[in-house]
Amino acid sequence: MEALAGRRGGSADGPAVRAIALGTLRWYLRLSPAISQLLERPDALAAPVRALLAVAAHQVEYSRNPPEVTVDAAVDAARLLGVDRAAGLVNAVLRRFVRERPALLARVDASLAARVAHPAWLVDRISSAWPEQAEEILLANNLHPPMTLRVDLSRGSRADYMAALANRSIGAKEIQWSGYAVTLDRPQPVEDLPGFADGWVSVQDAGAQLAADLLQASPGMRVLDACAAPGGKTGHLLELLGGSADLTAVDNDEGRIALIAGNLERLRRAAQLQAGDARDPSTFWDGRAFHRILVDAPCSSTGVIRRHPDIKLLRRPEDIPPFAATQVAIVQAAVSMLAADGRLLYSTCSLLPEENEGVIAAILEREPAVRTVELAVAVPGLVRRPHGVQLLPGAAAGTDGFYYACLEKTTTGT
Ligand SMILES: C[S@@+](CC[C@H](N)C(=O)[O-])C[C@H]1O[C@@H](n2cnc3c(N)ncnc32)[C@H](O)[C@@H]1O
Repeated sequence: MEALAGRRGGSADGPAVRAIALGTLRWYLRLSPAISQLLERPDALAAPVRALLAVAAHQVEYSRNPPEVTVDAAVDAARLLGVDRAAGLVNAVLRRFVRERPALLARVDASLAARVAHPAWLVDRISSAWPEQAEEILLANNLHPPMTLRVDLSRGSRADYMAALANRSIGAKEIQWSGYAVTLDRPQPVEDLPGFADGWVSVQDAGAQLAADLLQASPGMRVLDACAAPGGKTGHLLELLGGSADLTAVDNDEGRIALIAGNLERLRRAAQLQAGDARDPSTFWDGRAFHRILVDAPCSSTGVIRRHPDIKLLRRPEDIPPFAATQVAIVQAAVSMLAADGRLLYSTCSLLPEENEGVIAAILEREPAVRTVELAVAVPGLVRRPHGVQLLPGAAAGTDGFYYACLEKTTTGT
């Protein structure tokens, strides 16, 4: 997707290319069946032609560009892509799409999954986990996400930052239930944000900003961030812990460790960065217990579809059990590194109970030395779940979807 969406620092067209790519991915599962109705053998279509038709159909249906301009541009693009022989087909299919799209889309929209452009298995999972909220979730997954910032209060208050934004005529609102979050009226390039280069603010969803508070780490504690890259929550923890923080940030992807380093450099903060497998403490641990551990586990990412619409195309139902098995293994290993009375915060950006309360239930069964702690958190629309809390896309708070649960090791624990 990154290649399609345009890398940072690319051409001046980068933002437009990115918007078209994200929009096409967002609506692909509605547009593709509409186009297929116009093809004799949809499965025989070469991948670049299929992608080109989807991009053009997206422009026709979801942009204000005149449809005939889009069709002409798509025919030119077929030549640029080296699929000249498909130019006639692209022209004919798109002209019919422009003419017939109300009827084509009405047929597609008879299926809920196609209407909301989600795979059917995911609609089923979300509907069974969240019968009351499913419709709101599915609709919210197709909206443009807000750009939310986290203000480092040690560098200036949130009110100071709002004033700095106002000085640059950047509209923004404080999120009342959060101590740090500011949502911009319109997304901005980070280079245009006051204080970004010096680490006064970071881009982070307001729901993700809850993690550092919920961990309740304080200076003097040994803290482990077990799945840390790219370092969003590591940075927030360091901001709260101050200069003398004793924080180890681990990730099993060496390439992504560099992302943490880059983020901390911008924030002017330091942590011990280690490549290691959080399922296997021997790959990074010196044997000294941690007072606080954050496990922000790898997951299906079904709570962040509005930011990463390609998840709808890439994720498969058979991915979920391996995610759950990895999550249980990471939390179990983390429990073995936790000090008596220590606190472990488990978080995912998943909406699926198997990856959330299911994981905590499995840990409670295996680990008699831990118990869950109720999370004191007040966010509009937050749902209390077994062992933890869930934020949902489409709920009043306007955040991404997250699950949080807190475990404490009892003093009798080993
Ligand atoms: C949800 S992301 C973490 C996001 C991060 N906490 C933040 O706020 O920026 C999960 C991370 O876990 C890492 N990961 C996956 N499996 C792991 C494992 N076995 N051990 C350590 N890290 C792992 C992935 O590379 C990924 O960077």
